[in-house]
Amino acid sequence: MFPLRRNRRLRTNEAIRSLVRETIISPNDFLVPLFVVEGKGIKEEIASMPNYFRFSLDLLEKEVKELWKLGLKSVLLFVKVPDNLKDNKGTEALNPNGLMQRAIKTVKNACPDMLVMTDVALDPYSSYGHDGIIENGIIVNDATVDLLAEMSVSHAKAGANFVAPSDMMDGRIVTIREALEQGGFTDTGIMSYSAKYASSFYGPFRDALDSAPVDMINIPKDKKTYQMDYANRFEAIRETEMDIDEGADIVMVKPGLCYLDIVRDIKNVVNVPVAVYQVSGEYAMLKAAAEKGWIDHDAVMLEQVTAIKRAGADLIASYFAKEIVKLIS
Ligand code: PBG
Repeated sequence: MFPLRRNRRLRTNEAIRSLVRETIISPNDFLVPLFVVEGKGIKEEIASMPNYFRFSLDLLEKEVKELWKLGLKSVLLFVKVPDNLKDNKGTEALNPNGLMQRAIKTVKNACPDMLVMTDVALDPYSSYGHDGIIENGIIVNDATVDLLAEMSVSHAKAGANFVAPSDMMDGRIVTIREALEQGGFTDTGIMSYSAKYASSFYGPFRDALDSAPVDMINIPKDKKTYQMDYANRFEAIRETEMDIDEGADIVMVKPGLCYLDIVRDIKNVVNVPVAVYQVSGEYAMLKAAAEKGWIDHDAVMLEQVTAIKRAGADLIASYFAKEIVKLIS
């Protein structure tokens, strides 16, 4: 007997395919990372991230208005800190009039309903390019955590809706949560980079912020004592469950494409929203291959984010957000 079921019936034409499609991409899926610099009238392209820019505050204002019009309602802010303001303890991170604090206000003034998430980490402020304070060649955990909590309160004071600690120190979520509560910021959320791997896909981002670990004696060359070993799977679940217990509202897996097994593992066991960060190296690879004419940029871009969502992402931080939304609207 020839099979009664022919699976190709559901693929006959676009109408039936769209009717039974399981994963649909929309502007609601995205969190837009934005890089901010000091100055005026600056929109500078990042060399290793074609068509992606650092904005000074005046042009940041223009950019977020454009994003809002496109239906993109959430941004994730990162700042490029001038070298002369960097030190081991990230002193500048707590400046109430620092670049991050002003950037938050700028976005909120331009687009009051835009959801503002902020990067909470030491590396852009660290003279050594690390996410922690260094003592005797060691990244010290607890002193760093206290600083991250203060930083979070400072961002909340400036108007951030969510803080997003991207450092991978132990115990930072509970410490940040307590500090926010004590400061009266009960509505400020935490998106935890809970399963963040020590990945080589972050290179272009470190170019964008000039935040790569420095090459100096007694300074760790990489972030492997705090970010996760990419060979590990169960550890990701452990990290994520701990962050939820500590008070994380949203958890994250980072990077994206190479880690979709982890995304699915986590999605299957947690009941909070799962974010995925499609990181700078993923962006750069597609741009480079497309530039060579070796790959269809738009088709691959859409396939990649759909795969991330299919794997279990409830939201995606992506440098492609604007291009995707333009493509699908
Ligand atoms: C650091 C931080 C990094 C990214 C986000 N926050 C780099 C790192 O851990 O070294 C990477 C994002 C990207 O590559 O797009 N706190």
